[in-house]
Amino acid sequence: PTPDAHVPRDPRLIRLTGVHPFNCEAPLSDLYNEGFLTSPDLFYVRNHGAVPEVQDSECLDWEFSVEGLVENPLKITLRDLLQEYENVTYPITLVCAGNRRKEQNVVRKSKGFSWGPAGVSTALFTGVVMRDVIARAKPLRKAKYVCMEGADKLPNGYYGTSVKLNWVMDPNRGIMLAHKMNGAPLTPDHGKPLRAVIPGQIGGRSVKWIKRLIVTAEPSDNWYHIYDNRVLPTMVDPDESAKNPKWWMDERYAIYDLSPNAATAFPAHDEKLTIASAPETYNVRGYAYSGGGRRVTRCEVSLDKGKTWRLANIDYAEDRYRAYEDKSLLGGRLDMDWRETSFCWCFWNLDIATSELQGTSDIFVRAMDEAMCIMPRDMYWSVLGMMNNPWYRIVIHNEH
Ligand code: MTE
Repeated sequence: PTPDAHVPRDPRLIRLTGVHPFNCEAPLSDLYNEGFLTSPDLFYVRNHGAVPEVQDSECLDWEFSVEGLVENPLKITLRDLLQEYENVTYPITLVCAGNRRKEQNVVRKSKGFSWGPAGVSTALFTGVVMRDVIARAKPLRKAKYVCMEGADKLPNGYYGTSVKLNWVMDPNRGIMLAHKMNGAPLTPDHGKPLRAVIPGQIGGRSVKWIKRLIVTAEPSDNWYHIYDNRVLPTMVDPDESAKNPKWWMDERYAIYDLSPNAATAFPAHDEKLTIASAPETYNVRGYAYSGGGRRVTRCEVSLDKGKTWRLANIDYAEDRYRAYEDKSLLGGRLDMDWRETSFCWCFWNLDIATSELQGTSDIFVRAMDEAMCIMPRDMYWSVLGMMNNPWYRIVIHNEH
């Protein structure tokens, strides 16, 4: 048995690495069909090591520290978070920086396993705004970063990373310590009993099984902060990067905000469409997201390899949750200005005449966000194969 024998898992999840640690994504069609909120069963999982075993009876006593450059170091239990802090609920999409890495590995092998396009999922996260916790610890003037450390002991130490202190203190960024997903306590794979959730940024910053918050003047020096979740310049190859730590030490290459990305769920890649007997139109559809709270403002579809584009419809399901500002949502307050920020995926769709689909073998989609950042035509290959977001292409086959 693996160290994770205690962790229940849905058989529909596709394992992307060996038996252990557990890394998986759902089939894209299943993920899409779940709709806006992904159930924890089909939510993608990215674990660097064994899942800490925490009994239900131990959850309230789970303790983490707030330390480092603070006037008032703290030890806080989950019980304290529930009793002494205001709890909020936000819909948030998490995305692994490796989402769509498989396409990079096909071009040239990177140092990373092959995610398809389903390394992305959305849940209602309930917990405490991290700002409220840090404020009680009173950061000193020279403090600039919040380092986070999990309870999973890995070959290179505990998993950890950092974000800027001023992001944590900005209420519009929604950075939180969450204990519930979709109204139920976190499941073991997703950080039971407590995790950080950093909206709009790569999943790698959302530390699970959180044990320490360390306020510092410098970014995290944790091994996983330095050697993971980076986009090194494209000319750095795996051998060169292994010999030369200078590439990794450059904080400019660390990934924070997500960039625009999209994928087509229907039709599926390589699907054989029996067009002759199909209805007159096919509703081509999929998801899109961007980062940093920036909304996806357009999704475009091309049937001629990018010569011409058509505008797809977009459903911002996230907006329907704004109606819950009356505090009724799972007991949580929503104090972000939800009209200004978007921390969730959206769904695009476009009806295409089946006669037109008959004449094409591939469908491209690209998304643009409110900063006019657009998915590029060309891939930016890098040694960790992260943040892959060129136009998403599927190939279809017509059967008669
Ligand atoms: N936190 C800890 N403690 N250990 C981990 O291995 N993986 C990170 C992040 N937090 C990780 C972690 C990465 S790379 C991602 S993408 C997200 O958790 C995945 O969160 P999920 O498994 O709940 O989807």
